[in-house]
Amino acid sequence: MTWSEYHESTKHSVESLKRAPHLLDWANMPDPFRQYEGVPVLDLPADPPAPEIPALAVLNGVSGSTSAGDGAAFLSRLLFYSAAISASKRVPSTGDRYALRVNPSSGNLHPTEFHFLTRGLNAWPDGLYHYRPSSHMAEQRALGDLNFNLADSDSFAPVVFVLASIVWREAWKYRDRAYRYCLHDIGHAWQALALAAQAIGCDAFAFGHFRDDEVSQCCGLEPDEWPMLIVELRGRSIPVGERHACQPVWYGGHVNQISIETTAYPRIEEIHAATKLGRHAQRSIPATEPAPTGSGEIKLPCAASSQRTFGEVARRRRSALNFQGGMHSISLPQLSAILSVASRPFSCDFAGAHFIQLYLYLHRIDGLQPGVYRLWPGRAELEHIRSGDQRVVAAGLSLGQDLAGNACVAFSMIGDLERAVRAHGDRGYRYVHFEAGAIGHRLYLAAEAFGLAATGIGAFYDEEVHRYLNIASRRGQVVYHFAIGYPVPDSRLSA
Ligand SMILES: Cc1cc2nc3c(=O)[nH]c(=O)nc-3n(C[C@H](O)[C@H](O)[C@H](O)COP(=O)(O)O)c2cc1C
Repeated sequence: MTWSEYHESTKHSVESLKRAPHLLDWANMPDPFRQYEGVPVLDLPADPPAPEIPALAVLNGVSGSTSAGDGAAFLSRLLFYSAAISASKRVPSTGDRYALRVNPSSGNLHPTEFHFLTRGLNAWPDGLYHYRPSSHMAEQRALGDLNFNLADSDSFAPVVFVLASIVWREAWKYRDRAYRYCLHDIGHAWQALALAAQAIGCDAFAFGHFRDDEVSQCCGLEPDEWPMLIVELRGRSIPVGERHACQPVWYGGHVNQISIETTAYPRIEEIHAATKLGRHAQRSIPATEPAPTGSGEIKLPCAASSQRTFGEVARRRRSALNFQGGMHSISLPQLSAILSVASRPFSCDFAGAHFIQLYLYLHRIDGLQPGVYRLWPGRAELEHIRSGDQRVVAAGLSLGQDLAGNACVAFSMIGDLERAVRAHGDRGYRYVHFEAGAIGHRLYLAAEAFGLAATGIGAFYDEEVHRYLNIASRRGQVVYHFAIGYPVPDSRLSA
């Protein structure tokens, strides 16, 4: 199966939803926490200090600093502000509570697992670890100098993350379309990690180009868990000490069963196989054609500022269930700030030239007429595409979800899949979705910095969006929707 066959076959339409209704088998709902039993488990200190640098500064590329500490303190801080549990919600019918995390996830199903290698951290043994968010601990799957160069980089980084997806968790609910959501979730998790790293003074570089099976083997991943992105962390704020050579010891561990049974989704297996890189994959990444440029009649003003700290914003970020559709609006300088952080470059080996273009359905922005606009980030300009109230259309295109109409602004992210695949082969299909998730994550944090909220929207009528925006499929296809506004309070939530 090629990327385009998979993409085509997983498009939503009114007919496709009627043709194949899906009842959820709640008794078989996948456990969102993978645990490796029988391995040493290392404590990460509780309540690590919050990064005080303003979130908007981090989103604009400024680095924070870290308080001196050892490896455990560093890792605790990094993970507490990128992947930990940050709130819970109560199920009204049963009174049960379920966990929410710093990184968002489609359906809160959390397919993404965080594995990491460490080398030479102060008072922290070199080895391979798996993060256990349910108790904020690190499972030690191997100890010693493992000598893996997972991303084929020129020198060893002291901390290397491998973000992996357990696709079944998403497929349980979203069936064949789940692969797309797993890729988005990886994009969110990547930015959650990279921005937390930057807030505590180190740099993160992501590699999408690696030999999948070799990385799976090095990390001892189960067959149901697929490596998707490697993120290397470097920088002076990482507490590195003297290294003591130590022979590797492999513990591995036994994984918990996450469902009573799993259903096979051959289309997902096939698209994953089509996007894998094998033993003969070239080390170097081909250059990508530049993104198209253009201009619009509305110049975005200077960006508004916000002093809310990264620590507060990262941990308070929540998806709005719905937005207050009344009179509240967003100022144009706030919109300008949000769009500017979404357009900043990424530190990675695959999105040097952006693949995503943002279309905006503006409902309530001070000083701008409601309508559809296209962002030209190079010139910080908006091009007016359509006039008139877009609230009903934005909700309708988002599978009838009211939140896209009640928001102040909704987005269609249009991915240049053809250009990505010309540069990277079918692997490019992953990269476009990673980028969409990563932009979404920046939008979440920027919205939160202004006291607003956001919601990622994976469900939309693909072809209806193309028709409405008048986009030919060779020019791009919709890969993600998003909405920002004033959230309706959620009484089920507690911090
Ligand atoms: C890729 C992606 C797709 C999502 N799609 C939708 C959606 O279509 N509708 C919706 O209401 N929420 C959607 N969400 C929001 C999730 O439901 C939300 O992230 C999850 O419940 C966890 O809550 P939190 O973001 O507050 O941690 C999506 C989130 C992600 C990351």
